[in-house]
Amino acid sequence: MRLNGKIALVTGAGSGIGAETARRMAGEGAIVACGDIRGAAAGATAAAIVAAGGTAQGMTLDVTNNDSIAATVARIVAGHGRLDILVNNAGVTIVGGVAELTEAEWDRQLEVNLKSVFRCSKAVWAQMQAQGGGVILNTASIAGLTAIPADAAYCTSKAGVVMLTKCMAIDGARDKIRVNCVCPGYIETPMIQGYFNDQPNPEAARQHAANMHPLGRLGRPDDIAEAFVYLASDHASWVTGSALVVDGGLISGLPPG
Ligand SMILES: NC(=O)c1ccc[n+]([C@@H]2O[C@H](COP(=O)([O-])OP(=O)(O)OC[C@H]3O[C@@H](n4cnc5c(N)ncnc54)[C@H](O)[C@@H]3O)[C@@H](O)[C@H]2O)c1
Repeated sequence: MRLNGKIALVTGAGSGIGAETARRMAGEGAIVACGDIRGAAAGATAAAIVAAGGTAQGMTLDVTNNDSIAATVARIVAGHGRLDILVNNAGVTIVGGVAELTEAEWDRQLEVNLKSVFRCSKAVWAQMQAQGGGVILNTASIAGLTAIPADAAYCTSKAGVVMLTKCMAIDGARDKIRVNCVCPGYIETPMIQGYFNDQPNPEAARQHAANMHPLGRLGRPDDIAEAFVYLASDHASWVTGSALVVDGGLISGLPPG
């Protein structure tokens, strides 16, 4: 098992990519704290992990609230004496270009998707330094590498996550804190389904999105969870500051045919 005995916190673990990442990390032997603003959903993810023979605990966590973050980290460290892996994954999507977005929407998008990464990483940093190292992983997006129409705040938030990943990687290197992010393409989760549902023809939008990926399908949460497991493991001991694109070829070029 690649993460045997590691203590992990996954944010946004109540759904989609976060839930699958928590499940896969537990399957690799990690003890996983499943954090989500929807505490019942986090609890359901943890319960499923425990039912499958793993070790996990659901925790209500709001990544936009410093008190909530501090309480979650304190609870994990009190229980296990350390925190080896932080996965900053919680996120929301607020669509619109600059013309449509309100200032409040812009602030909210950057607060949830970008500032949360700063807040949660800051909250674990001293602990990781004191224990001799750790791993911080962030869910960025291909939207942080290439612009998507009418998605200005979301794309900007994810571009910020990519750069913050690199900044934390070089700042943490001497303390053996490795920091990497994953940039998913379109992944089949409630978030992307919500986006499709907002289109005039949701099924056509879904098919169009699948066809944009040269590998011919939408991604699945386990495509991203597998990347996170690798980056969290000692197999990636010389990998830091990377933005691993896992997107079915989406941003490499046009699909074949
Ligand atoms: N689905 C995609 O196509 C896709 C592509 C690229 C990147 N991403 C990113 O992946 C991450 C996970 O997205 P998903 O698709 O699994 O979405 P999802 O909606 O299925 O899950 C997101 C989870 O985050 C939680 N959350 C929201 N705000 C929170 C807060 N303030 N504090 C704690 N938890 C909070 C939600 O309750 C939810 O359980 C996000 O950062 C998203 O931007 C998704």
